[in-house]
Amino acid sequence: MTHIIIADYIYTPEGFQENLAVAFTHIIKEIDTLDILKAKYPHANIIQTAEHCVLYPGFINTHVHLEFSANKTALKYGSFMPWLDSVIEHREALVGKCDNEIMRRECDTMLRSGITTFGAISSFGNELEVCEETPQRVVFFNELIGSNAQYADMLYGDFMERVKVSMSCQKSSRITPAIAIHSPYSVHPIILQKAVNVAKEHTLPLCTHFLESQAEREWLEHGKGELKGFFEKYFKTSTPVTNIQEFMYAFDRYPTHFTHCVQANKAELEYLAQKGHSIAHCPRSNRYLGCGRLAIETLSLPYSVATDGLSSNDSLNIFDELRAALMLHHQVPIEKLANTLINAITTNAAEILGINSGKIEVGKLADFAVVTLPEMPKRKEEIALWSILHTKEVSEVYIGGEKYI
Ligand code: BEZ
Ligand code: FE2
Repeated sequence: MTHIIIADYIYTPEGFQENLAVAFTHIIKEIDTLDILKAKYPHANIIQTAEHCVLYPGFINTHVHLEFSANKTALKYGSFMPWLDSVIEHREALVGKCDNEIMRRECDTMLRSGITTFGAISSFGNELEVCEETPQRVVFFNELIGSNAQYADMLYGDFMERVKVSMSCQKSSRITPAIAIHSPYSVHPIILQKAVNVAKEHTLPLCTHFLESQAEREWLEHGKGELKGFFEKYFKTSTPVTNIQEFMYAFDRYPTHFTHCVQANKAELEYLAQKGHSIAHCPRSNRYLGCGRLAIETLSLPYSVATDGLSSNDSLNIFDELRAALMLHHQVPIEKLANTLINAITTNAAEILGINSGKIEVGKLADFAVVTLPEMPKRKEEIALWSILHTKEVSEVYIGGEKYI
């Protein structure tokens, strides 16, 4: 079945366009005036959106931890190390409490904010069932963790089991199996390299947390600081298993999505850029855990904007995240920033996750989010800004040409 959707504005790679419509099945067939499309597809179903609507490609949240969706007040916010301590203390209870119903509700929150694809970071595999059922496309990042050489083989074995299970998901579930390395301080370099090799061998998307906090930097650089006490207390070790350079080199020949990078210096960011990597920027998570601000205005590598999990956030609504980004990055002119943020959660994010979406362009998947503005924008250059400021939930969502909202 072919559909033709009409909106006052369409967000295209050439900017916001008026007087256009989009013909689509599960993919985008053609973009032209309504009259031309009607003549070409006389039997198409016509979808007339409400007044003041903007048709966007479906939004993409590249980094979320659904398993921690039960957290409201258990985890300590404000500073990274007290937060990490609280994760160790409450992890079991939080993950135990997080049933499918809670995770379904959070997938729905994302859907209602226009998220048609998300990257789920999974430490236990608990969210696989919900991710198979949810209408969204899910890049399922099986996470590897374990810095202690003694347990490394066992943890790697468990990780590979989860990778295999996610690889055997039905094509119809829209799941892409993928690999996540927890972080430089928590993964032993030997199993890290093995996991990177698996990603390469099967061309799986790869991501890792990197230089999130000052404590992480101090530990990796000097073997000192707050993480030292943490490792002595919980792991009976007092030296880091790797350093910043060695960790970055492990990803040299495989483009990887590095989450946070708030404490990365100019040279490290340039190195990541040169190797074709990308960043997941999580503004609320960084603020809530006292990690600092990623200077997005000086980045020379592509980045997405992501919510992280409810373990370090208050909602998985992508518009809440974009509004926070507008406030956090007060250095950047607001109109320009609004456009950059929309680009980050569409075009950039799709390229990063390797999904054929993120652009309203012929041949792309028909994943759309329709935003209804409160009135006709007076100036076209402000559409992205008004979309971010005035949207709590989108009006319509299409994934693979199917309407879900
Ligand atoms: C580790 O295995 O080293 C680790 C696990 C969880 C948090 C931090 C470190
Ligand atoms: Fe995260």
